[in-house]
Amino acid sequence: MNSKMIPVAVINPDAPVESLEAKQPPIDNGAEIYGKDGYFSAEQMQREWNKVWTQSWLIAGVSSDIPKLGDYFLFRVRSESIIVTRTQEGIKAFYNVCPHRGARLLIEERGNKKVFVCPFHSWSFRNSGELRTITDEETFQEPVICHRPGLTPVACEEHAGLVFVSMADTPSPLKEAVGLPEGYLENYRIDQMRVVRHVRSEWGSNWKVGVEAFYESYHLHAVHPETRGVMGDLNVQYDCYPNGASRMIVPLGQPSPRQADQTTVNEGLQYMLQEAGVDPAGFTGTAADVRSAIQQAKRERSERLGLGYERFTDGQLSDSWATGIFPNVQIGCHPEAIFLMRFIPHDTDPERFWYDTMTLMFPVDDPNYCPPAWMGLPEGTNVTGSVRPETESFLIDEDPGLGLVLSQDAAFLPSVQEGMRSKAFKGQLWGEQEQRLRHFHVELERRLHA
Ligand code: FES
Ligand SMILES: [Fe+2]
Repeated sequence: MNSKMIPVAVINPDAPVESLEAKQPPIDNGAEIYGKDGYFSAEQMQREWNKVWTQSWLIAGVSSDIPKLGDYFLFRVRSESIIVTRTQEGIKAFYNVCPHRGARLLIEERGNKKVFVCPFHSWSFRNSGELRTITDEETFQEPVICHRPGLTPVACEEHAGLVFVSMADTPSPLKEAVGLPEGYLENYRIDQMRVVRHVRSEWGSNWKVGVEAFYESYHLHAVHPETRGVMGDLNVQYDCYPNGASRMIVPLGQPSPRQADQTTVNEGLQYMLQEAGVDPAGFTGTAADVRSAIQQAKRERSERLGLGYERFTDGQLSDSWATGIFPNVQIGCHPEAIFLMRFIPHDTDPERFWYDTMTLMFPVDDPNYCPPAWMGLPEGTNVTGSVRPETESFLIDEDPGLGLVLSQDAAFLPSVQEGMRSKAFKGQLWGEQEQRLRHFHVELERRLHA
């Protein structure tokens, strides 16, 4: 490493070193420029399949989606489909494949079944995985079925309300693989939240281009100029954790330092104040006071409604803690909700991926409750948690209605994918605002060469 002093933003210089908010000690990931072939080739796609997707813990879904015995959901990554189901012995996962002739057992993405009946010849299985009946069993020779073929299990564990699965024969310990400090995700109580929106859309780039775009705030001023009034994009704290995990704390409720006007309480800031319950018309502070006013208002709301925000720092109340788990997840963590995004490789095309997003929030009884704008929920979204919405699915040319910022990304990334293909482009040149990208790639390389 060279000795040049690179400025780093720290959200709260007074945060105790052992706190979750503290700036993590820097990790020396070097300054190597990585080759670009990994974004286009079928061979790389296969290598990633063999070394990453079938060897890592992956977030298959959330445990609040299967609260009752027999509830299940399917998790698909490339050509594998995995059943995640709640059994007498807790949550279990199985390959969604019948041992008889290989038919998919379940087609519906979610449901409740204590017995899975194969649609091909009606063999049946308990949701614990064991074989229940073989149709016309007497017509089979004993050696063919004497092992009583059941469903093939997939390693499955819950952590902080998230359900992880691993296709590895001997998966590493989950908590170690997640890489985040104890209590980091648990603090958000995701297990008590409910999915209020689930959108899956097909995007025109390699999945890593997706991860990269969401792992930095460096592009906000250019691709999302409308965020300038309300996001401190240069004050972002970037932290790297073990095993490829990382996070960025993006301060919200403050103008970008790139903007000259640091005093006017602009329209965006007024809107954020209003959301937090502060009347912007009566607000006497400047733009510099908005973030702390929001924190204050949320504390008061919590005291009034018993929301237990004592467990959060001031910064957590206002800011986005965008948290990455290797290989393909970013969770936007907020006190009232989380935004879980997964970048899932396409079945066959290395230049496409599935952007799968779930918005989870604590169920709200008040029908007049207005969810914060960052959540991008369409008007009329049911936030009571009483109904699990269907997954909205969109192919590449359809508009998934994800809101302005995400559609800007969806529209922009294919041009990055195409530009990287050019003979002129040699490899990405990351700055320290992109340290999470480097951290991700160091881990990816480590896995690919393991
Ligand atoms: S393939 Fe399932 S019963 Fe035949
Ligand atoms: Fe973006």
